[in-house]
Amino acid sequence: MRRILGWTSFAPSGLLSRTRGVGLRMCSTASDAPKKKVRIRFLPEDVVVDAEPGECILDVAERGNVHIASSCGVGDCGTCEIEMLPHNVWIRSCVAKVPSHKDEMSFDVVGSDIPAF
Ligand code: FES
Repeated sequence: MRRILGWTSFAPSGLLSRTRGVGLRMCSTASDAPKKKVRIRFLPEDVVVDAEPGECILDVAERGNVHIASSCGVGDCGTCEIEMLPHNVWIRSCVAKVPSHKDEMSFDVVGSDIPAF
Protein backbone atom coordinates (compact mmCIF):
# COMPACT_ATOMS: atom_id res chain seq x y z
CA MET A 1 0.00 0.00 0.00
CA ARG A 2 1.36 3.39 -0.96
CA ARG A 3 1.44 6.09 1.72
CA ILE A 4 1.13 9.67 0.61
CA LEU A 5 3.02 12.11 2.78
CA GLY A 6 1.49 15.52 3.13
CA TRP A 7 2.81 18.61 4.83
CA THR A 8 1.38 17.34 8.11
CA SER A 9 3.83 14.45 8.05
CA PHE A 10 6.75 16.71 8.84
CA ALA A 11 5.31 18.59 11.78
CA PRO A 12 5.97 17.63 15.38
CA SER A 13 3.44 15.27 16.84
CA GLY A 14 0.52 16.97 18.54
CA LEU A 15 0.90 20.26 16.70
CA LEU A 16 -1.51 19.63 13.92
CA SER A 17 -5.04 18.42 13.78
CA ARG A 18 -7.00 16.71 11.08
CA THR A 19 -10.04 18.64 10.00
CA ARG A 20 -13.46 17.40 9.13
CA GLY A 21 -16.52 19.37 8.19
CA VAL A 22 -16.81 22.78 6.66
CA GLY A 23 -16.65 26.04 8.53
CA LEU A 24 -15.67 24.52 11.85
CA ARG A 25 -12.42 25.19 13.60
CA MET A 26 -11.25 21.97 15.11
CA CYS A 27 -8.89 23.58 17.60
CA SER A 28 -10.16 24.07 21.08
CA THR A 29 -9.06 23.61 24.63
CA ALA A 30 -10.58 20.46 26.01
CA SER A 31 -11.88 20.66 29.56
CA ASP A 32 -9.74 17.68 30.55
CA ALA A 33 -6.58 19.18 29.04
CA PRO A 34 -3.88 20.15 31.51
CA LYS A 35 -3.88 23.86 32.35
CA LYS A 36 -0.45 24.63 31.07
CA LYS A 37 0.71 27.83 29.42
CA VAL A 38 2.82 27.81 26.29
CA ARG A 39 4.54 31.05 25.27
CA ILE A 40 3.94 31.77 21.61
CA ARG A 41 6.21 34.36 19.99
CA PHE A 42 5.19 35.99 16.69
CA LEU A 43 7.92 37.59 14.61
CA PRO A 44 8.88 40.04 13.25
CA GLU A 45 6.89 42.21 15.68
CA ASP A 46 8.09 40.06 18.59
CA VAL A 47 4.65 39.74 20.14
CA VAL A 48 4.45 37.12 22.90
CA VAL A 49 1.11 35.56 23.80
CA ASP A 50 0.44 32.88 26.41
CA ALA A 51 -1.65 30.02 25.05
CA GLU A 52 -3.20 26.80 26.28
CA PRO A 53 -2.52 23.45 24.63
CA GLY A 54 -5.20 22.71 22.06
CA GLU A 55 -5.76 26.30 20.97
CA CYS A 56 -5.36 27.13 17.29
CA ILE A 57 -2.28 29.17 16.53
CA LEU A 58 -4.50 31.52 14.52
CA ASP A 59 -6.71 32.16 17.56
CA VAL A 60 -3.64 32.87 19.68
CA ALA A 61 -2.38 35.35 17.07
CA GLU A 62 -5.74 37.12 16.96
CA ARG A 63 -5.73 37.42 20.74
CA GLY A 64 -2.33 39.11 20.50
CA ASN A 65 -3.51 41.42 17.71
CA VAL A 66 -1.14 39.74 15.26
CA HIS A 67 -2.65 39.70 11.79
CA ILE A 68 -2.54 36.43 9.87
CA ALA A 69 -4.63 36.32 6.72
CA SER A 70 -7.11 33.46 6.66
CA SER A 71 -9.95 32.28 4.51
CA CYS A 72 -11.45 28.79 4.79
CA GLY A 73 -10.66 28.20 8.47
CA VAL A 74 -10.47 24.43 7.98
CA GLY A 75 -6.97 23.87 6.60
CA ASP A 76 -7.87 23.57 2.93
CA CYS A 77 -6.72 26.79 1.24
CA GLY A 78 -3.30 27.54 2.74
CA THR A 79 -3.97 31.26 3.16
CA CYS A 80 -3.04 31.15 6.84
CA GLU A 81 0.33 29.45 6.44
CA ILE A 82 3.08 30.78 8.69
CA GLU A 83 6.61 29.59 9.34
CA MET A 84 7.39 27.73 12.53
CA LEU A 85 10.89 28.46 13.79
CA PRO A 86 13.63 27.37 14.10
CA HIS A 87 12.99 24.43 11.77
CA ASN A 88 11.38 26.49 9.00
CA VAL A 89 8.29 24.32 8.78
CA TRP A 90 5.21 25.95 7.27
CA ILE A 91 2.01 25.28 9.15
CA ARG A 92 -1.61 26.17 8.52
CA SER A 93 -2.37 28.25 11.57
CA CYS A 94 -6.15 27.77 11.42
CA VAL A 95 -5.79 24.06 12.21
CA ALA A 96 -2.39 23.86 13.91
CA LYS A 97 -2.79 23.40 17.63
CA VAL A 98 -0.61 24.55 20.48
CA PRO A 99 1.07 21.33 21.64
CA SER A 100 1.18 20.36 25.28
CA HIS A 101 4.79 19.15 25.19
CA LYS A 102 6.30 22.57 24.42
CA ASP A 103 7.03 25.47 26.79
CA GLU A 104 7.47 28.04 24.02
CA MET A 105 7.27 28.30 20.25
CA SER A 106 8.13 30.94 17.66
CA PHE A 107 6.50 31.76 14.35
CA ASP A 108 7.39 34.15 11.56
CA VAL A 109 4.21 35.58 10.08
CA VAL A 110 5.90 37.50 7.27
CA GLY A 111 4.40 36.36 4.00
CA SER A 112 1.30 34.93 5.62
CA ASP A 113 -0.87 37.21 3.50
CA ILE A 114 0.46 35.79 0.24
CA PRO A 115 -2.24 33.58 -1.24
CA ALA A 116 -1.33 29.90 -1.63
CA PHE A 117 -1.77 28.36 -5.07
S1 FES B 1 -7.52 29.61 6.35
FE1 FES B 1 -7.51 28.13 4.78
S2 FES B 1 -5.94 26.77 5.39
FE2 FES B 1 -6.11 28.15 7.06
